[in-house]
Parts: sequence; structure tokens; C-alpha cells
Amino acid sequence: MSIFIGGAWPYANGPLHLGHIASLLPGDILARYYRLKGEQVLYVSGSDCNGTPISIRAKQEGVSPQEIADHFHQEFKTCFEKLGFTFDCYTRTDSEFHHRIVQDIFLTLLKKGHIDKKTVEQAYCPSCDQFLPDRYVEGSCPHCGQQARGDQCEYCSAILDPLDLRDKRCKLCGDRPTPMETEHFYFRLSTFQQVLEKHVDYARENNLWRPNAILLTDRYLKEGLQDRAVSRDLPLGVSVPVSGYENKKIYVWIEAVSGYYSASKKWANEQGKDDSIFWSKDTVAYYVHGKDNIPFHSVIWPAILMGIEVKSLPTLIVSNEYLTLEKQKLSTSKNWAVWVPDILERYHPDSIRYFLTINAPENRDTDFSWREFIYSHNSELLGAYGNLVNRTLKFVEKYYDGNLPKGEINADIQQKTEELYHKVGSLIENTHLKQALEEIFYLIRFANKYFDMQKPWVQINEARSLCDDTIATCVYIIGNLSQLLSPFLPFSSNEIKKVLKLGHQSWSPFDLPQVHIKEVKPLFERIDVQQINEESEKLKKQSLK
Ligand code: MF3
Ligand code: ZN
Repeated sequence: MSIFIGGAWPYANGPLHLGHIASLLPGDILARYYRLKGEQVLYVSGSDCNGTPISIRAKQEGVSPQEIADHFHQEFKTCFEKLGFTFDCYTRTDSEFHHRIVQDIFLTLLKKGHIDKKTVEQAYCPSCDQFLPDRYVEGSCPHCGQQARGDQCEYCSAILDPLDLRDKRCKLCGDRPTPMETEHFYFRLSTFQQVLEKHVDYARENNLWRPNAILLTDRYLKEGLQDRAVSRDLPLGVSVPVSGYENKKIYVWIEAVSGYYSASKKWANEQGKDDSIFWSKDTVAYYVHGKDNIPFHSVIWPAILMGIEVKSLPTLIVSNEYLTLEKQKLSTSKNWAVWVPDILERYHPDSIRYFLTINAPENRDTDFSWREFIYSHNSELLGAYGNLVNRTLKFVEKYYDGNLPKGEINADIQQKTEELYHKVGSLIENTHLKQALEEIFYLIRFANKYFDMQKPWVQINEARSLCDDTIATCVYIIGNLSQLLSPFLPFSSNEIKKVLKLGHQSWSPFDLPQVHIKEVKPLFERIDVQQINEESEKLKKQSLK
């Protein structure tokens, strides 16, 4: 089976915050799981370096967009690496290669009649003497009446045409933009209405997309898909590859989503591999992003793929809801955010991965608070998991000179563990990652109880062979946990693999080899609860600046 996983492309206009990670982490869990299972996996993403947000930041700071993009692209790569993300290719949208592939896609759509040229009206600001990027037009949303930007309404998620906003204003100077004629290329989205309806029906019947993706896509389809302008008068981006129109740029949404395809081609070129197995009708394709990205993956990208006759449409849409911070909406502008480079300085990447999975905003918004984060580390990761591993392996060191005892593995536990592979596997495949991780932690708590009840510290003196059984059983669990947990908590899983000298891993239960273990160190350190106040204070202070 071939598994394609596309993670959303973060804008390279500011640092990553935990909200980004909460929406992107499912991609890495899926990739790691399917590789363990032995499937062919291609997991790609990259930095979105062309959008208006970068032009805005560059202007504010008086530097070139290139400098902004370079800086954040590097920073993203470092953060993803430190968090254990295993992209097969993480690239950027300002690369020459990406530009070329996007232009190819554009030309194919043009040739096949899915794109045509029209004279249309667009928002023009007379005082600034320019056509305005969608995001530079502000006003109230024609659907819900809330304050919105010209590209999309954050409140009701509608995709907008800037001219449809009420009480329009230019973000640059505050003046009223007027409609002015200009020539543009249009993507004939409306011709895909029926096939897209079928596609969503299939996803609905098979529970493949998150409910928010189904709901929103249904709404668009019900309103009827509109043809959309796919070129813009912008300085930054991929030029329209038609002579006389090189100054126009391909609209960022067509261009950014095409990154999935360009990244896959880049990977194929660099690895000397064929990527067509990831774009076939048998491919299972996961698209992983936050809910504000839904229409671009549930409507626009499948339409483009059909337009260029690529056979694999998004099979699963993994569109998380939002993460709030201390019960308030994350806000970059108010600096109400936990920045990834910052949290990584002081906390274990598995603590972050654990928290963001067990509290994943899979079906509703969830909250990150420093209190919950630190408690979840101390009581679950360290208190349950770390404790099981530590007490068992320390016991082997102390009473068995580090030689794993040969004992009978408890049949009940063995069966439970075997079942867990099936259960967790199918939960992961259906992207119920929170529940999958919960299932594994049930086993951990169960194993701790088993240890308590067996009392190996008594057995060792009174019934040596029973003690061998207890410890062999616990080591068996730990070894299997290092596999079961490796998609979620790769760093601590690796520690266990090193101590137990485990070789090749797969997604199936296994018995442990006879090894000698030494220098057992705790998997996790306790976090001082003082930190809760310190971190909360820091957050408040940073947001006041
Ligand atoms: N950079 C855009 C955003 O963060 C788009 C991300 S996903 C893409 O909203 F695949 F469509 F690029
Ligand atoms: Zn203006």
C-alpha cells in the first residue's frame, strides 16, 4: 500500500507556535506508524514563502521578503527536527523547482480548458495607486457580518472575494478601494461541482474526513462552487507562465497546495525514486492541517488534481480544531502564544508531543495551560510510563546483575498486548490519535498495577521463579511499549530501544532477546511545579509588551 501524507505549509512570516504543532503533529504520527507497519510512505511539507503575510512583515521590518523567508524556513526546520518530525521532504515555495512545477500545473490546466482568461474587476486603491492583495482589503463579511479580510472570513470560514466585503477599506492607507478592470486567469471550479459532491459523499459514508471538513465542504457545495481568479497583481510569487502576463502571479492558494506535488517530485529526483505510486488511484492520501485550511484541501486541491488528471484525491482530511492558550484564543499579534523555539529550550519534545496528542483538538477546541502541561508530564509520562520502565529495569540491574530473566510471560498480558497492536493500529489509521494513545496508557497503568500486585521485591526472596515471570512480563511490556509508543513518543522509545538493545522494529508483538542492561537512567525528569507560576507569569508579561 502507498501512503501519502501532506502536512500544511506554515507561512514563513513568524515563528511556529503550539497551535501549528497541534494541527501538524498527526502527520508525523501517521508517517512513523505506517513506516513501522512496512508500508511505503511519503510525508512532505515545506515553508510557504510566497504569501502576502511575508510581504507585510518584510515591509514592517524594512528587509527583503527573501531574508524573512530564509530566517523562518531555517527556524522551522530546526523546530521540526527537534520535535522529531520525519518529513521525507521539507522544502519551500520560493524554490526554483517549485515554481517550475506550479507553472507546469498552471499550463496543463490552461491547456485542458480548466483555466481561462477574463476581464474582471478587482479592488484597486486610488491613493496607493495599486491593486490590493486580498488580505489588504478589510471590511465586514457578506455572510456573517463579522470583521474580515478579503481572502477568508476567520469567523465563519467563508472563502471571500475582496470585492464582496461590505464597507471595504485599504489596509495600507485606510481609503476606500474601488473596483477596477484588469485581466485575470480564472479556474473553472464550478465544472467540478458534481465530482466533488461524489467525493465528499464517499468521505462521509466511510467516515474518512473530520466532521468539520465534511460540514464546511457541504456548505460550499450547497452554495454552489464559483469560478475563481487564480492570478494576482502581486510582487511576490510564481509568475504566470503566459507571455504578456509574467508580471502577474499565480494565486497563492493554487500555488501553495501544489507544493504537495512539487515536494513529491523533488523527493523523487533527489532520491532517484518514482513518486507515481503516491499519486495513483490506490494511494491512501492524508492531508493534515488546521480547520482554516479545509476548503483548500477539500475543494481546491482535489479540483486541481482532477484537472491535471492525477488519480489520488485526498482520502482522509485531518483538520484539527484550534488549540487555545490558558482558555484564550491564540494571538500572534498580541503575543499570546507559546513559541516553539522557546518551549523546546526547556522541555522534552516527548512531553510536548504527549500533551498535544492526549489533548488534541480533534473534534473540538482544546486548551493548553502550563498547569495541565506540567501535570500531564509529571503524572502520566513520568508517573505512569517512566515509573514502569524505571522500576522494572532498575530491578533487573539490582537483583539480576542486569541480565534479563528468562521467565514465563503472563498469558493474559501477552494477549492484551497483541490486541493492542490491532486496536491502536486501526485507531491511528482512522486518525483517532488521542484515543490510540489513551489505549496504550491503559496498558501502562495496568502494568503498574500488575507490578504492585506481584510484589517482585517479595517474590525475589520467596519465589524466585515467580519473580522471573513477573519481571520477564514487565520487560516484555516495556519492549512492546517502545514500539507501540514510537509514533507518538519517539525520543523516549529510542532510549528504551538502546537500553534493551532492540534491533529492527515493526508493528507486531515480539519477545525480547536475552541482553545485558546497564546504566539505567530515568526516562523523564520531574518538572518542578514552581515552573507553572513562572511560565504563566512569563506568558502574561510577554503579551503585555
Ligand atoms: N501557508 C498557508 C497557511 O498556513 C497554507 C498552508 S497549507 C497548503 O494557511 F498546503 F495549502 F499550503
Ligand atoms: Zn490604500
